[in-house]
Amino acid sequence: MPQPRGDETPVVDLVGVGFGPSNLALAIAVHERNAAGGQDPVSAVFLERQASFGWHRGMLIEDATMQVSFLKDLVTMRDPTSSFSFLSYLHERGRLIDFVNHKSLFPLRIEFHDYLEWAAARVADMVRYAAEVTTVRPVVVDGIVTAFDVESGGETFRARNVVLAGGLRPALPPGIVASRRVWHSRDLLTNVDSLNGTDPARFVVVGAGQSAAEVTAFLHERFPAAEVCGVLSRYGYSPADDSPFANRIFDPLAVDDYFGAPAQVKSMLLGYHANTNYSVVDTDLIESLYRRVYREKVLGTSRLRLLNVSRLTAAEETAGRVAVTVESMLTGARTVLPADVLVCATGYAPADPFPLLGVLADRCHRDERGLAVVERDYRIRTDAGVRAGIYLQGGTEHTHGLSSSLLSNTAVRSAEILESVCERRQEEAAADVAEPVEPAAEPALSGSGRAGTYA
Ligand code: FDA
Repeated sequence: MPQPRGDETPVVDLVGVGFGPSNLALAIAVHERNAAGGQDPVSAVFLERQASFGWHRGMLIEDATMQVSFLKDLVTMRDPTSSFSFLSYLHERGRLIDFVNHKSLFPLRIEFHDYLEWAAARVADMVRYAAEVTTVRPVVVDGIVTAFDVESGGETFRARNVVLAGGLRPALPPGIVASRRVWHSRDLLTNVDSLNGTDPARFVVVGAGQSAAEVTAFLHERFPAAEVCGVLSRYGYSPADDSPFANRIFDPLAVDDYFGAPAQVKSMLLGYHANTNYSVVDTDLIESLYRRVYREKVLGTSRLRLLNVSRLTAAEETAGRVAVTVESMLTGARTVLPADVLVCATGYAPADPFPLLGVLADRCHRDERGLAVVERDYRIRTDAGVRAGIYLQGGTEHTHGLSSSLLSNTAVRSAEILESVCERRQEEAAADVAEPVEPAAEPALSGSGRAGTYA
């Protein structure tokens, strides 16, 4: 949709920034709502900076499985009859019965990626790939922000609402910079082929979570002559709590409980249940790693080494290698490990929405920690002069709880956002009828001579 600038600029109901699973689920919700007919269609455009759909491609390790039930796919928790379900995908791929015989709730990650790609292809008419959003600007009519201009690669998309779903940013330890020999786990499969034809002698993998354990196992298998040193501050890899009562923390209802809880109860819940998601590993993988360590002990060929209660203090690149300094937190002793590659499986931080929002950032309410104040419908609270909506998918752990950055609630959250967008549109339309002379209530699509100025 090429956009003429100025007052004739068409306005869509929403522009989604980022097209990972979160906004994909939203696109499907829009598609299904429009296809059902009988209501005013919702117009939407999704902008994704990758050239095609991709979900953590650098970590699509062949035998890695999902950490969430396939029933928490893009739609089922919202509408179990949707044709966009994982089961519909399996049926179309001719694997439904094989999957059932497998008796697992947890598909391969590679398979789930294929499911996401399959779903994304079915709503491709709403998506622009290779379209990085660089800024979001307010469109002001008579002092009221009635819409946003979303800028991407020289094009402008005007919308009554933006839904920011930029995902997570890789986090490296302080002082560590990614390079040819220092990788974040996100880039594992993208970078590993650069080692083809070389004969790596040692890898160091820092971290104690699922990604760290997966990377350690992967490198150990892929390079049978190399030593793999896992560096973790814990005493050992610890299991993810996926027991049924604890798992309720990811239920749609838990979002209501968490949202309404006092601040100290929120932080208590995050503390109690962090081990459902953070710095924890699937039990099967822990056992597989332990078996390898023990087997090598028996054989006297220990090449999978765990440096526990330890931390990375430096990584210096020398000719063809990286010197990794590891400090034992028990003794303070420092060991320098010359390695071919250091992989930091040190997690992610949610994307900060404010840099993208430019001058709009000052119109958003923040809490005492500087984080966005987000309403139950995932809309950032803004000052009264902003009528257009800024919604967050992700980055709301402080307000909506642990499922914020995960897939568990994607289907329901998307429906809630869409409902909010539609309800507000209806309220505004009603206000237009009630107060036709109110300038701020002028229909955004009118192309009147007053739209298009930036605050
Ligand atoms: P996601 O990060 O997937 O997508 C964001 C998209 O926005 C990206 O495609 C990015 O390119 C794009 N983007 C960012 N900025 C942009 C801009 N300015 N302009 C345009 N596009 C922009 N969770 C779970 O529940 N179960 C699981 O099994 C797993 N497994 C898992 C494995 C691995 C290796 C990781 C790293 C993470 C998980 N997760 C997970 C958690 C993960 O956050 C979750 O699966 C989803 O990726 C969240 O989807 P989003 O769409 O919110 O973000």
